[in-house]
Amino acid sequence: MITGLSHVAIVVPDLKAAVEKLRATYGLIAGEIKVNEEQGVRMTYVDLGNAKIELMEPSRPDSPIAKFLERNPRGGIHHFCVGVDSVEQAANDLAAAGVQVLGGGKLQLNVHGERIAFVHPKDFLGALIELEDNKLEKNHG
Ligand code: CO
Repeated sequence: MITGLSHVAIVVPDLKAAVEKLRATYGLIAGEIKVNEEQGVRMTYVDLGNAKIELMEPSRPDSPIAKFLERNPRGGIHHFCVGVDSVEQAANDLAAAGVQVLGGGKLQLNVHGERIAFVHPKDFLGALIELEDNKLEKNHG
């Protein structure tokens, strides 16, 4: 079902400062900053070649990740994302197996308009995981 690692997501208190820190210290170059209104996040990706780092900050005060920052003011790892052959199929199969898929089984969309789903941390060893459709072509964005 799971075919690979897509990205690890880090919530940061200041996205521009985080981008600059990764550039200045590690020579990592972030992509374009985008806003996902539905999720309430402003975000960008750093492409590492075999996986990405997703950097996120809240785009509005009632953003779900604003609560994360209240608990973790300096930021921290929020979730990791794995590719699956079909998000819809995986979400259905997991729900049928008793796994809690967040959003009541309604698929969400990422900043690229692609279908995603999240699995509750209690059902993945304490870690929040995101599922996305496996990307066959590289440099999808
Ligand atoms: Co993500």
